[in-house]
Amino acid sequence: MKAAYLVFLLVWCSLALAFDEAAEREATRLLTEYQEEAQKQYNKVSLVSWAYHTNITEHNKKIMEEASLAITEFQKEWYNKVKNYLDSDLSPETSRVMKMAFPVQLDQADAKNLTSILATMSTIYSTATVCLTPRKCVNLDPDLASIMASSRDHEKLNLIWEKWRTNVSRKIRPHYLQYMELVNKKARLNGYNDYGDELRMKYETKTFEEDVSKLYKELDPLYRLIHSYIRKKLRLVYPQIESRGLLPASVLGDMWGRFWTNIYPLVTPYPEKPDLDVTEAMKAQNYTVTRMFGMGEEFFTSMGLKALGESFWTLSMLERPKDGRSVTCHPTAWDFMDGRDYRIKMCAEINFDDLATIHHELGHIQYDMQYAHQPFTYRDGANDGFHEAIGELMSLSMSTPSHLVKVGLLEDATEDRELTINYLLRMALQSVTALPFHLVNDLWRWRAFRGEYLVQDYNTHYWKLKEQYLGVKAPVNRSSEDLDPPAIFHIANNYDMIRYFTRTILQFQFLEKLCEAAGHEGFLHTCDFYGSKKAGDLLG
Ligand SMILES: *[C@@H]1O[C@H](CO)[C@@H](O)[C@H](O)[C@H]1NC(C)=O
Ligand SMILES: *[C@@H]1O[C@H](CO)[C@@H](O)[C@H](O)[C@H]1NC(C)=O
Ligand SMILES: *[C@@H]1O[C@H](CO)[C@@H](O)[C@H](O)[C@H]1NC(C)=O
Ligand SMILES: *[C@@H]1O[C@H](CO)[C@@H](O)[C@H](O)[C@H]1NC(C)=O
Ligand SMILES: *[C@@H]1O[C@H](CO)[C@@H](O)[C@H](O)[C@H]1NC(C)=O
Ligand SMILES: [Zn+2]
Repeated sequence: MKAAYLVFLLVWCSLALAFDEAAEREATRLLTEYQEEAQKQYNKVSLVSWAYHTNITEHNKKIMEEASLAITEFQKEWYNKVKNYLDSDLSPETSRVMKMAFPVQLDQADAKNLTSILATMSTIYSTATVCLTPRKCVNLDPDLASIMASSRDHEKLNLIWEKWRTNVSRKIRPHYLQYMELVNKKARLNGYNDYGDELRMKYETKTFEEDVSKLYKELDPLYRLIHSYIRKKLRLVYPQIESRGLLPASVLGDMWGRFWTNIYPLVTPYPEKPDLDVTEAMKAQNYTVTRMFGMGEEFFTSMGLKALGESFWTLSMLERPKDGRSVTCHPTAWDFMDGRDYRIKMCAEINFDDLATIHHELGHIQYDMQYAHQPFTYRDGANDGFHEAIGELMSLSMSTPSHLVKVGLLEDATEDRELTINYLLRMALQSVTALPFHLVNDLWRWRAFRGEYLVQDYNTHYWKLKEQYLGVKAPVNRSSEDLDPPAIFHIANNYDMIRYFTRTILQFQFLEKLCEAAGHEGFLHTCDFYGSKKAGDLLG
């Protein structure tokens, strides 16, 4: 993919011939004016969106929808102001920024519909509960997540898996179908074939779909080896799993079978070695959520990277509020576009997984702070995969046995071969096994947006892909009323997932270069670049 990207840039630069200088000057002037105003507008909409996600009420939802419509209007006004320049002979750079900044907007009725649909799907997802008994209905975070992570009762896991989908994705389904129509419509207004085409073009290469499938072909043999190892181990716990069969999606450690780290205790190659999930050590040392974030920040500053500002600590939502209000717990990092205000929204708990997630989210914030001096339109990752890779890279380094020893969460055992094997497997459960998961979620969406499937067969095709690529099946029968893809945050909330596929590739490429800069010798998996100013400079 990297190569394809380079080729694209070369072709594009060689086209930089003559352009209309008067148009270029005027377009540049308008862009500058737009960027200043846009920054203020997007700051406003982010603030009300934050207010909603940290306090879900009808009132806050309405205000968020209004602000979102105001942005559509703002963008439309600007589109009309600049539209004569969009097709002028501008320099390639100005032309690219103009196209990024001024997409064609839906008309008012459609825009209103889409805004309301997005808010509704988000609310259904974030407020859903599953009733364990008629009187005890619990949220995903922390209760359901914790059961999916630690229960080994197949029936119970299946039941919760099914109820979540009955109460979330089945309810989202009618809205999702309308959403698909509207985002496709908007994509076509902008010259794309469909919404999947638009999402893929964020990577600025027409061969993106082929590129990722080629990449996956290279990685598939490794996935298959890990899959059969995991299946053999899981059969000891769940005898129902057939020796050459598919894995039920409910027994993989979370609500979706996305990250498998929670089943690490069941599949540890050398279980007698010290536990690399250092949750117990964190609890014994009275870790707090604030301390976990402090550790994360210190990882960045040890490399000479930027520290968090005062307002991060006062304005972020780091834990689930104790006053009973509904919030969106799914961890997200926020850039309020004013160069000062950066926040994280998360319902962190004291455990090792969340410590890794904190490093991940802080990676987004670090990236946001690093590009704060750029013009508004450029304040984003080179692509979404880059953005996702940064924090994941920090989590990798942080969770190496040598780093855990350094911070006093593991006894000294860094040179041990068996512990190393344990570590590598655990790392694979966070990265390698998630590759086909993320790929399939977007393969399905790309094909659905393209109109390759009949609506009534959507869910059947989804499970066909899961079986084919992941060797994972639905643990209970599905009906024509089900639409399982939006049972996960990203799909219900209009985020692509291929970014987590590309980031996994990028993250190891970044790791290699940072470790080289840090003067690391030996295997890559033993590298901890904590404290390396040279690695920090390079990453910055
Ligand atoms: C949540 O929002 C409502 C408005 O819908 C407001 O009255 C309330 O004070 C907010 N709660 C908090 C804790 O901010
Ligand atoms: C579905 O979620 C709603 C909203 O939280 C809740 O009232 C209802 O009891 C849930 N239903 C089931 C079957 O869990
Ligand atoms: C938009 O909203 C209207 C009225 O609420 C509805 O009838 C229509 O089907 C919606 N969906 C699309 C895709 O336009
Ligand atoms: C953690 O807290 C407990 C109870 O407050 C206390 O007994 C213990 O000494 C503390 N441990 C550490 C490592 O601070
Ligand atoms: C699930 O579907 C299969 C095949 O259609 C059927 O044989 C089986 O009885 C169903 N199981 C349940 C629990 O409905
Ligand atoms: Zn992320």
